[in-house]
Order: sequence, then C-alpha cells, then structure tokens
Amino acid sequence: MRAALAMAAACLAWTGTAAVAIAATAAEINPGGPPSVVIDRIGATPKISARIDPTAATFKPDPALAALGKRIFFDTRLSQPQGTSCASCHDPLRAFTSTLSAPSLAGPRTPQGGRPGHFSARTAPSLLYVRYVPRRHFYQDDDAPFASPFGGLFADGRADTLAEQARGPLFDRDEMNNASPKSLLRKLRGTDLAPAMSLAFGPRVLRDPEQAVKGIGQALQAYLQSDEMAPFSSRFDDYLRHRTPLSPLEMRGLALFKNPDKGNCMSCHTLSDTASRPERSLFTDFGYDAIAVPRNLSLPANRDPRRFDNGLCRTAAQLRWPEPNQWCGYFRTPGLRNVAVRQSFMHNGVFTTLRDAVAFYATRSTDPAKWYHGKPTFDDVPAAYRGNINVNSTPMNRRPGTTPALTDEEIDEISAFLGTLTDARYVAAMPKPATK
Ligand code: HEC
Ligand code: HEC
Repeated sequence: MRAALAMAAACLAWTGTAAVAIAATAAEINPGGPPSVVIDRIGATPKISARIDPTAATFKPDPALAALGKRIFFDTRLSQPQGTSCASCHDPLRAFTSTLSAPSLAGPRTPQGGRPGHFSARTAPSLLYVRYVPRRHFYQDDDAPFASPFGGLFADGRADTLAEQARGPLFDRDEMNNASPKSLLRKLRGTDLAPAMSLAFGPRVLRDPEQAVKGIGQALQAYLQSDEMAPFSSRFDDYLRHRTPLSPLEMRGLALFKNPDKGNCMSCHTLSDTASRPERSLFTDFGYDAIAVPRNLSLPANRDPRRFDNGLCRTAAQLRWPEPNQWCGYFRTPGLRNVAVRQSFMHNGVFTTLRDAVAFYATRSTDPAKWYHGKPTFDDVPAAYRGNINVNSTPMNRRPGTTPALTDEEIDEISAFLGTLTDARYVAAMPKPATK
C-alpha cells in the first residue's frame, strides 16, 4: 500500500503546483455544520483546510418536509412493480438496516429488491446517523504526506448528498426498478402524495419529472436529517452521560477497541469516551480504507470470477481524481452504531455474525487461508490492485503463522462492547447471546 500511496503523494503534489492556486472559498461540506474552507480541488472534489467536526453540526429540517419524506420512505407505490419502499430494505424495526428475506439469507445475504431473484449488489447500511456523513472532500492531516478522501454516500461515495442519493434505489433495476423519472412521476400522480408534493414544491413538481425526482430527494433528505433518525439512546450513550456503567466484559472490550496495540479499531471507527456529547462517537472518521474482506461467493454477480466490486476507484475516475486506480479496494468506513442487529456484515455481506467480522481483523494477517477460501491471497481484490490493501495497520500487519494481536477471549470482549452501541428500541433485534 505504501508504494502506491507514495506515488499518489508525488502525483498530488505535482497537480498541486501545476494547478492554478485557487483562492480559499467557503463551502457547505458538513450539511448541518459551519461552512468549511476549501483550499484546493482534487479533480472535481474540494480539499478543505480543517477536519470535519460532527459535533458542530445541528440539523433543523423543515418539519412539514420531513413528514412528507417519511411518508415517501414508507410508501410502497413508488416501485415497479409496486410493493417495495425504502423501508423494505431499511427496516425501522432493525435500526433501518435490512431484515433479509429467506431467499436472501439462503443466497447472497444482500437485500432483495422489488422483483424475485433480484438482489442489491451490496448490503444496506443503517440509515440512523446518516445525516452526519459529510459531502465528499479531501483533507490532509498535518503529519500526513498526502490528502485522503472522506465522505460521500454509499460504500463508494458515489452520491454527494442525501437528496442525490435517493435516485440510486428509485431507478436501480435490482431495487425499486423505476424505468425513468417520467414513469415515477406517473406513479406519484396517482397517489395522495401528489397534493402534498405540490404544496411543498409548487404545482410544477407534478408536471416536470426531473423536478419530481428532485423534490422526492429533498423530502427524503429532510426525513433522514430529522432527530428521529439520530436517537443516541444506546447503553454506550448512557455510559457517556454517566448514567449507567458498562459491564466489566464490555469495559474490557472498549479498552481493546481503543488500544492501538490490540484492536486499534478506534483509529478508523472514531469515538471519544471522554466527551459527554455522543455526536463525538459516531464510530467512523468517514474516511476510506482497503481492508480486503473475503469474496462473497453467493453474490449472483460473483459467479463471474473476473468480476470484482472495486469500491471507491470507479467514483474516483468519474470525479477525475489523479490515478484513480490507487483507490481500488477502498470502501467507506461504516459507523458501528447498531452494528449488532445486522444479519450480514461488510459491503458484500460475506460475514453472518458480528463475531466473525471482529475475528477477521484479528487473524486476517496471521491465518489468511482461514478467510480467503483456503488460499492465502486476498480473493476479492484483483491482483493488479492488491498493493492498495492495508497491511500496515494493527492488527492486520502481522506475518502468517505468527500470534494474532487478539485472543479468542478478546474477540468476544470487543463483540460484547459493540453490542452496547445498539439503540434502546432495537435491543430485542440483537441475536442472543449478543456476541455469538
Ligand atoms: C432493494 C433494497 C433497497 C431499497 C428499496 C432502498 N435501499 Fe437504500 N441502500 C440499499 C443498499 C444495498 C445500499 C448500499 C449500496 C452501496 O453502498 O452501493 C443502500 C444505501 C443507502 C443510503 C446510503 C447510506 C450510507 O451510509 O452511505 C441511503 C441514504 C439510502 N440507502 C436511502 C434509501 C432511500 C431513501 C430509499 C428509498 C427511496 C432506499 N434507500 C431504498 C438498499 C436499498
Ligand atoms: C484501517 C481502518 C480500519 C480499522 C483499523 C478497523 N476497521 Fe472496521 N471497517 C473498516 C472499513 C473500511 C470497513 C468496511 C469494509 C468493507 O465493507 O469492505 C469496516 C467494517 C467493519 C465492520 C462491518 C460493519 C458493517 O456495517 O457491516 C465491523 C463490525 C468492523 N469494521 C469492526 C471493526 C473492529 C472491531 C475493529 C478493530 C478490531 C476494526 N473494525 C478496525 C475500517 C477499519
């Protein structure tokens, strides 16, 4: 990975001097926060001067618009055929991640779309706390040799805002399968959502298909930004507020999660247990990394051995970032709040238990064949991009055959800690016992 990144650093430095220096401008990178200072652009993407502080964000979406967005979110009449809503894959009883159907559980472990046999290409993240995901940007820490990408929605950051993101599922053939904005508008006009849309956006929204899609996106964005979607009601939040202790087992898990020589999880899944404001602990830095999860052999698309989901590099190419292929294998670091209610893990759903997801980190480098279907090679990253994979971060930086950084017991402790991140409403949705 280092070689590729060094090359990238050189390349970014080069574009930096060759490009006409752009005057610092203010831009809204963090939707609910103060404007960020843009000091440069990398391809089409702004580079900002200071790290995003999610604590500084406040969200005040128009309540009427958020209510309309909520109605749209649960409405099953906007798919082709009708019957699938956003909630079909983002289940309000499972922290807005998927409750998988029987065919999905027996097959790819990604959510099923509106038609039988159609499955999403990736797993669906929880939509709680999604309002904190900043827009795409580059940021360079003082001690970092190059700027790194952050933010953007979807595992590969291909949507910049929540309003833009809504287009994805509405027109994805494996999801809501609308043929065009025109056919979506036709459906919308036949429902009681039409007068509400007209009231919110003016009558033109019912005549112009593009305006209709835009309006739907804005309403959904308002709903996803509402306080309802950021409850901060987990046992960990109560612990931060000094209202309840964690168990000794969970406390050991927290310590391992933070310890740079053990789990080292916090280096990517950010938290601050000295701050009582839970917004400081979203369990992601919104950055991207290449941790090389194993191939999910049950994904329909993976029947073709030459097919790979390369993550961020496709977005990078579209956005004209220099040397986009250095980002192949990179996916956005997900927040871990409510992770314990998931039925499958990682962008491709390869793991079915939380414990496996944690154990993967512990023994990926010491016993790779255990994870990569009997072979020692990273099997879901094409050979040409394996140099991008993170082999430097603890605990993924050991040699095969050496002792893992985490024992079996410590893996259980971290898994138990992750169970404390479940918001109160969803505790019943966790498998029992939570760590197995
Ligand atoms: C058929 C299942 C399905 C449906 C229906 C669906 N989604 Fe999703 N959703 C997904 C999957 C899968 C992903 C992750 C895709 C990826 O990373 O490429 C996702 C990702 C998202 C994200 C990005 C979250 C993040 O952290 O980056 C948002 C926001 C979202 N969906 C909102 C919606 C909305 C709003 C609707 C309704 C208009 C909807 N979804 C309908 C499956 C679905
Ligand atoms: C170098 C950065 C980095 C470190 C260190 C790291 N993670 Fe992750 N984590 C990621 C990325 C990136 C993903 C998404 C990978 C994917 O989907 O392909 C991820 C995914 C996960 C998931 C799956 C979440 C989901 O929604 O499916 C879990 C669970 C997880 N990490 C736990 C941990 C634990 C526990 C540790 C410490 C032992 C840890 N991570 C250390 C970057 C990191």
